[in-house]
Formats: sequence, structure tokens, C-alpha cells
Amino acid sequence: ETEIIKVEDAGESGIKKAAELIKLGEVVAFPTETVYGLGANGLDAQASAKIYKAKGRPSDNPLILHIDSIRMLSMVTDRLPHTAMEIMAAFCPGPVTIIVPKKNTVPDAITGGLSTVGVRMPDNDTARKLISMAGVPIAAPSANLSGRPSPTTANDVYRDMNGHIPLILDGGPSGFGVESTIVDCTEDIPIILRPGAITKEMLEEIFPKVAVDPALTGKNEVPKAPGMKYRHYAPKAPLILFSGKAANMLGALTGELGRRKRAGFKVGIIASSEIAGLFDSDAVYNYGSRKNLYAIAANLYNALLYFDDKNVDVILAEGTVQTGVGLAIMNRLKKASGQTIISV
Ligand code: TXA
Ligand code: MG
Repeated sequence: ETEIIKVEDAGESGIKKAAELIKLGEVVAFPTETVYGLGANGLDAQASAKIYKAKGRPSDNPLILHIDSIRMLSMVTDRLPHTAMEIMAAFCPGPVTIIVPKKNTVPDAITGGLSTVGVRMPDNDTARKLISMAGVPIAAPSANLSGRPSPTTANDVYRDMNGHIPLILDGGPSGFGVESTIVDCTEDIPIILRPGAITKEMLEEIFPKVAVDPALTGKNEVPKAPGMKYRHYAPKAPLILFSGKAANMLGALTGELGRRKRAGFKVGIIASSEIAGLFDSDAVYNYGSRKNLYAIAANLYNALLYFDDKNVDVILAEGTVQTGVGLAIMNRLKKASGQTIISV
């Protein structure tokens, strides 16, 4: 039922068709440099209600608005804090979302009743053309069913959204593979609410101090980004995350694999190329080299989706370092594990 248009083949006319649907108040999926988005007119409460319905998303979880240019900022906010301006200047278009005070024209239904709004300018030509042609900011969460891993290809979107939306624009695989970094710009110091491809270290190059939402590291705090409180990125089988020193990973994973196999479990393993070939198991997903964290990020959701049709009882996942984009990788893996973490 859902049509897929390959942008490479259809060109502008494909994007135009999607833009017309957005203008009519419909929902379409489109590519960005992070993950695929599920887009609708960001100034139309009824259109965005269709996004919540298609995803099965709780209504208190706000949507972020995607803009094509700095000019469009004035449609969503009339007060840009200095931290927001500096982030825009340094990283936009790019994989970062700024939280700023919202304008009245932005419906409460899109911000879950908050007085702030998330705004992002994607570094993807198809996405920005779509927004330009629609002429409005596009509200878009990741194009997965609520709670599932985010889609990095049009096929991933199709699996979750077929029959729920009229059109998917296929722009090929997403580059980064994890969602944008969310930065709260409403305080003096920028606060990272969700780690992503724009790293804390990169932000520290332009700001003397960068804070991280305590809920990302502590266990009992309520996160400032409403969506971060839900279990998310969950594969069908339970996932156990191994966190700690790279040198200890092989031993710890091998030990757990043996124990689980003896108990009669079918075990899936997600591991780096440094050790993926060393397990006595035929269900291993190699997510890339420890030396290239951006490649691991790009493979991450694929790794989580890979075991869905392999009938495994449990997945053991090797963790990465928590610096650079490793902070985003570990954040997603922790959520995928429902906080079932073994320290090594
Ligand atoms: O890379 C991305 O950001 C992708 C692509 C499609 O652009 N989008 C995305 O949207 O990841 P979503 O809805 O899956 O995640 C947005 C997150 C949610 O956790 C939400 O709670 C939070 O942003 N958020 C949105 N508006 C907010 C606000 N005003 N204050 C705090 N958090 C907010
Ligand atoms: Mg999401």
C-alpha cells in the first residue's frame, strides 16, 4: 500500500509529490543524514496527530521541527539564545537539534505542551528540498514504530510503516545512523539531552563549558528530553550489554556465551571486527572496528534489527568507549538493553 519513490530515479518530481502530500496534511517518510524521518506540516496540529498515530507514540513526547534555512527559524521561534546561534553557525546544516523557546504559531500538540521546541536543519539535500517545496517546517520523529530501532534505510521504514503512510522517499542509507545530538539552549550553558554525531568534545571547542543531562549517566533522574525516559531501540530478543575495557570483552563475552549455550539458549552476538571472528557461534554480527566509531554508529541499528528474524533467545553486545560518538553508541545500547548491563 505504501509507495516507495527512489529519489535517484525520480529526481525533483518525486520530492515534489512528497511535498504536495505534506501540504495536504499527510505524513511521508524522508531521508536525513542521521536516520529516516516521518514528516508532516509542523505548524498543523491535525497533520502531526497522524504522526503520533502511525508510530504509536505517546502524546507527551514532542516532535522536532526540521527547517531548510536560517530564514525559516523565524517561523518557529522569535527568541534565539546566543548558544543556539553559535551552534547554528558552527554545525548547521548537520546532525544537531537545538531546544529553544517556541513561538505561538507552533501548536502545543507538537511540543507536548512544552514552551520550548526542538529545531534542526538536516544535512541532506532531499530533506531540505522537501522542506523548501512544502514551504513549512516539517515535524519529524524517527520513522520507526515507537520503541523500535530507528530506520536507516527505506526498507527499514517500510517494515514498520507499510500501510500506515502513503509515501516513502528513498534516498539511500543514512550516513550517521544515530539520531541528532539534542542540545538544550535555554540555559546559559548548553546541555546535551541526547548524545549524537556532534560530540561533547566538538561542542567544547566552541563553548567553555558543556553540560550533560544528569539522567544520561545517573539512574534515577528524569530526563529533560521526554522521549529519553522510554525503553527504546529494542530488538525482539532481550539484549545484554557488556561495558568496560576493550581488553576484557572477548573473555567476558565468551564466558557468557558458554553459560547460555549450556543452558540451552540460542545466542546472538554483536561484536567489533577485532573479536567477531573468535566466537564458537554462527550468529555473530560484526559491527565494525573499534578504531572507527562512526562506522559502528552507522551499523548500530542494523545490528539490532539483524537478529529479529534469526530466532535467538538472547543477544550479547560488546560496548564501546564512552568518548566521542561512543557516548551516543553506548546511550542507544543501554536503552536497547533496558539497562541490563554487565561491567567488565
Ligand atoms: O536525527 C534526528 O533527530 C531524527 C531525524 C529524523 O531528524 N529525529 C528524531 O526524532 O530522532 P525523535 O522524535 O525520534 O526524537 C526526538 C527527541 C525525543 O526524545 C523528544 O522527547 C526530544 O527529542 N524533544 C523534542 N522536543 C523537545 C523539547 N522541546 N524539549 C526537550 N526534548 C525534546
Ligand atoms: Mg526516535
